[in-house]
Amino acid sequence: MDLGIKGRTAIINGASAGMGKQAALALAQAGVDICISARGEARLMAAAEEIARLTGVCVTPVVADHSTDQGRAAILAACPKPDILVGTCSPPPMTPDYRSISMEQWHSALDISLLSPVQFIHAVVDGMCTRGFGRIVNIATVAAKYPLELRVLSGATRAALINYTGAVALRVVQHNVTLNNILPGMFHTAFVEDQLTARARDNGTSYAEEVSRFVDTWNIAAKRFGDPAEVGAMVAMLCSQFAGYIVGQSIVMDGGATRSTF
Ligand SMILES: NC(=O)c1ccc[n+]([C@@H]2O[C@H](COP(=O)([O-])OP(=O)(O)OC[C@H]3O[C@@H](n4cnc5c(N)ncnc54)[C@H](OP(=O)(O)O)[C@@H]3O)[C@@H](O)[C@H]2O)c1
Repeated sequence: MDLGIKGRTAIINGASAGMGKQAALALAQAGVDICISARGEARLMAAAEEIARLTGVCVTPVVADHSTDQGRAAILAACPKPDILVGTCSPPPMTPDYRSISMEQWHSALDISLLSPVQFIHAVVDGMCTRGFGRIVNIATVAAKYPLELRVLSGATRAALINYTGAVALRVVQHNVTLNNILPGMFHTAFVEDQLTARARDNGTSYAEEVSRFVDTWNIAAKRFGDPAEVGAMVAMLCSQFAGYIVGQSIVMDGGATRSTF
């Protein structure tokens, strides 16, 4: 399906791995020229080369930490007028006991998961309004909607982000600029594979057995973890020309682990 965004430009922050990389690939497959960022150079360059080879679009990699002023400036210098902004980062650390979260961890989580996307949105949204087209998608977490002690740093910061994006979305949609969020549950990314591989080592099991246990414990109706490409496709759909009437939504993608009709 032609998403109607061929030739547009996008910034995808956190795009060398996992869902960010799949979002970058899906947008590139739709004909969007992309600027992708991450901190680690080798993995970013490999992702850029792979996406350019597979799709033929223009791919600009920027090695930068998007939670810093300097990093954000470098990314915006490489792509000052994006039509599309997609933001993500690595999952913040697990927090088995909310009382042991340090102030340093709070500040770091706020910088990367809340203040970085807020500042990026602020930097690009006026230009999108002037040009009459803009799509902004944050890849956040289902823990923003369904609180869990283990995911306090991830959930609380993203709950603030989706509240913020909902408010800004109402102001800018009249200019054909939309802001929406994706709230993923469990996906087969490097972070999850590391966590469950370590658990398998401790328990004398395999990664597949740990996934299966997790699926049972958390009652995931789909009976599997998600594929990051499924998030990539949803990002591309929300960035399409046809998604101009989807405003400030937060779409849960968790295989049915959480349940609510609205
Ligand atoms: N995986 C899951 O099952 C799961 C579940 C619920 C929610 N989520 C959420 O989904 C999002 C994506 O997770 P993921 O598993 O796809 O992550 P991932 O595989 O770890 O990929 C994260 C990407 O972001 C980059 N990144 C991290 N911090 C950055 C920074 N400060 N500046 C620039 N780039 C940065 C990483 O590269 P560098 O490290 O090289 O910078 C990498 O490219 C996260 O927000 C996570 O909380 C994931």
